[in-house]
Amino acid sequence: MAATTTPTGTTVARATRLGGALRLPGDKSISHRALMLALLANGTSRISGAGDGGDVRSTAAVVEALGATVDRAEGAAGNVDYVVQAPGRIGIRQPDLPLDCGNSGTTMRLFAGILAGQPVRAILDGDASLRRRPMARVVEPLRVMGAHLEGMSGERPPLIVVGSQPLRSISWSTPVPSAQVKSAILLAGLAAEGTTRVRETVATRDHTERMLQARGVAVQTTADEAAAGAVVEIQGGQAVAARDEQVPGDPSAAAFWLVAGAIHPDADITLGGVGVNPTRRSIIDVLARMGATIEERNTGPAGGGAGGGHPAEVGEPVADLRVRSSELRAVELEPTETAAAIDEIPVLCLAATQARGRTVIGGAGELRHKESDRIAGIVAGLRAMGARIDAVGDDIVIEGPTALRGSVVDSLGDHRLALTFAVAGLAAEGATTILDADCVAISYPTFFADLERIQS
Ligand code: S3P
Repeated sequence: MAATTTPTGTTVARATRLGGALRLPGDKSISHRALMLALLANGTSRISGAGDGGDVRSTAAVVEALGATVDRAEGAAGNVDYVVQAPGRIGIRQPDLPLDCGNSGTTMRLFAGILAGQPVRAILDGDASLRRRPMARVVEPLRVMGAHLEGMSGERPPLIVVGSQPLRSISWSTPVPSAQVKSAILLAGLAAEGTTRVRETVATRDHTERMLQARGVAVQTTADEAAAGAVVEIQGGQAVAARDEQVPGDPSAAAFWLVAGAIHPDADITLGGVGVNPTRRSIIDVLARMGATIEERNTGPAGGGAGGGHPAEVGEPVADLRVRSSELRAVELEPTETAAAIDEIPVLCLAATQARGRTVIGGAGELRHKESDRIAGIVAGLRAMGARIDAVGDDIVIEGPTALRGSVVDSLGDHRLALTFAVAGLAAEGATTILDADCVAISYPTFFADLERIQS
């Protein structure tokens, strides 16, 4: 058994070999948006291969509470095929109860944007972790657009949203790079008079833009040459069309196996149908820069056949990835690169513990505002395993390589930390016990089954 669970935690043993092929959970960001856009569209949308983690389930439940019919069927690789029937934006119903966003920041922030332009009063709530997360970043622009939003304590959830019709369009510069904030404003912009603009200094994941376009909504993106950023524009009043969608494998889930394969001395893992959208693939490129042996094959549009050529302009590019044991070297990340790989930084820290030299991950401060304080969590956990890792202001500095040894590590109830420590355990000497490892189910419910499948 590669992993055993007791009431105290889940224990992962060192793997002798990692080998085989995996299909991953459907991309979490895309699954959320597919469900939300299905609610905004009048008609039936079929979503195949959606992730079945706790976060996406939270979104599906909110979509249902707002008046859509959501049918789920078990799909391949532990994923879900949804059929959503909705009356469209004008049919969104006044919810009877608070909307429970669980652990999911994406659910809360994007629904804040959707509800801001609806004639409803709603309460968006979540678990203890979500209640600690900052919401001012969406509350402020949505207020300027004319909606009433209020956090129960400061700008923290629960969040009361009283929508307004129509909203005013705005031009907004996001102070922190955030796809959630950009998406909340664009979704509110659909219900605004005139053109809403969002300027970001670092171009963040662009799924909302692509998926709106694929549903007949015109969205213009102009690269901001002065920065690594972009300006995105949307004209209010456009209708969202119902559409079927195949969700690609989650590159953020792939990251755990890419690092596992690269740091383990006897590994050869293939990951099928992974999303390689340019705004999400940064982890693949950074690992390659560190010397990881990663082959990318069968690149094509999601849902298309293998070898389908280059990514479609609208829709999501996918590829099969093969990773093998590698000699890694240290890397320096600029803050813009850190922002582009924000969800993968914890597992990248693990890779850096096995890389020769000093890795500096610059401008990682946003990690303090995720499901946990991920800087504190990753530093404490990897140090307990023998790594040389420090937080220096907003930078993370790692000296490698160091041999990892099994230890007891605390996930802080944060899925990305639990997954990182489990991968560390596969390469560490001795047993690694991860406290509260069940939280992997937030984004990757089949992780321990997959681990069982590929390790020997
Ligand atoms: C997400 C955006 C990111 C990311 C999160 C998912 C999204 O958050 O960390 O896991 O789906 O838009 P921020 O936009 O707050 O950086």
